[in-house]
Amino acid sequence: MGIPHPIPYQGSKRNLVKYILPFIPNGIERLVEPFAGSAAVAIASAYNCKAKNYWLNDFNSPLIELLKNMVEDPHKVSNRYSVVWNEQHENPKEHFLVIRDIFNKTHEPELLLYLLARCVKNAVRYNDKGEFNQSSDNRRKGRSPEKMKKEIEIFSQLMKNRTVFSSIDYSEVLEQTTLNDWVYMDPPYMGTKGSSKRYIQGLDLDRFINNLELLNQRNIPYIISFDGKTGEKEYGEELPLHLGLYRLEIHAGKSSQATLQGKSANTIESLYLSKEAIKRSSITKEDLLSIKKSSYNNQIELQFSF
Ligand SMILES: C[S@@+](CC[C@H](N)C(=O)[O-])C[C@H]1O[C@@H](n2cnc3c(N)ncnc32)[C@H](O)[C@@H]1O
Repeated sequence: MGIPHPIPYQGSKRNLVKYILPFIPNGIERLVEPFAGSAAVAIASAYNCKAKNYWLNDFNSPLIELLKNMVEDPHKVSNRYSVVWNEQHENPKEHFLVIRDIFNKTHEPELLLYLLARCVKNAVRYNDKGEFNQSSDNRRKGRSPEKMKKEIEIFSQLMKNRTVFSSIDYSEVLEQTTLNDWVYMDPPYMGTKGSSKRYIQGLDLDRFINNLELLNQRNIPYIISFDGKTGEKEYGEELPLHLGLYRLEIHAGKSSQATLQGKSANTIESLYLSKEAIKRSSITKEDLLSIKKSSYNNQIELQFSF
């Protein structure tokens, strides 16, 4: 089996990780993911022996508990998933609603795994009361317990005894980073301003920029995946020039959203590299330009903001 991806999660960087990984050097002390989600980048980094240690943080505490339990007690999680998954056979739609109600009362992480595996687009959605309110996708039953078990086991082997987990605001994580850390950030989608129901919290851009300024002052290397644009339509805003970032555009192929709508637009994702990240990974502007030349085949196109 290749790189595991135990939590089905909309917005996961699973398919883009091959473009992101080359910019994280081998042998770093610790990779920090303040907006971990399903932790696709950390998992791929561990699989490729990039860092000795990992810190996974996400504001969504049942999600972080789930990642932690998967790493520290993989059998408990896969057994629980298997029981809940197998109970659905008689009436999958009704079963989903029952489990969703129980999850909203108990916040049991393993129930979130079942809900994510079974819900529309594997997408977390919460109502104003903070209750999970995504519907079930009635065309499928969600990943089989056997497959889930394998994914969780390999994930656990990769991350055990070298990963810390937390569920605090990303700014508190950034404050605690040290010069031995590399930070990879994939903040919530900014397509709509203000709070986005797609994730638990939307992103306050000014506060985010302020935090990046602080990282620059402290010479902490960081990489950011930031919004995307599909075809002609540009979402969100760009990060300001005064941060001194390199901006790369990753042309990531067809957008599933656009395909659903009968369009064939390409998804374009921005990757921003801090000056310190460029300095530490000893990538020069010439290197970046040569990557540009050689990587058109891989659909990476690099663009510079300065
Ligand atoms: C785009 S997703 C990350 C996806 C992740 N890269 C992956 O591969 O699955 C953004 C994540 O940020 C989390 N988040 C939102 N606001 C946050 C905050 N203030 N602090 C920490 N995490 C936050 C969300 O819960 C969500 O999981």
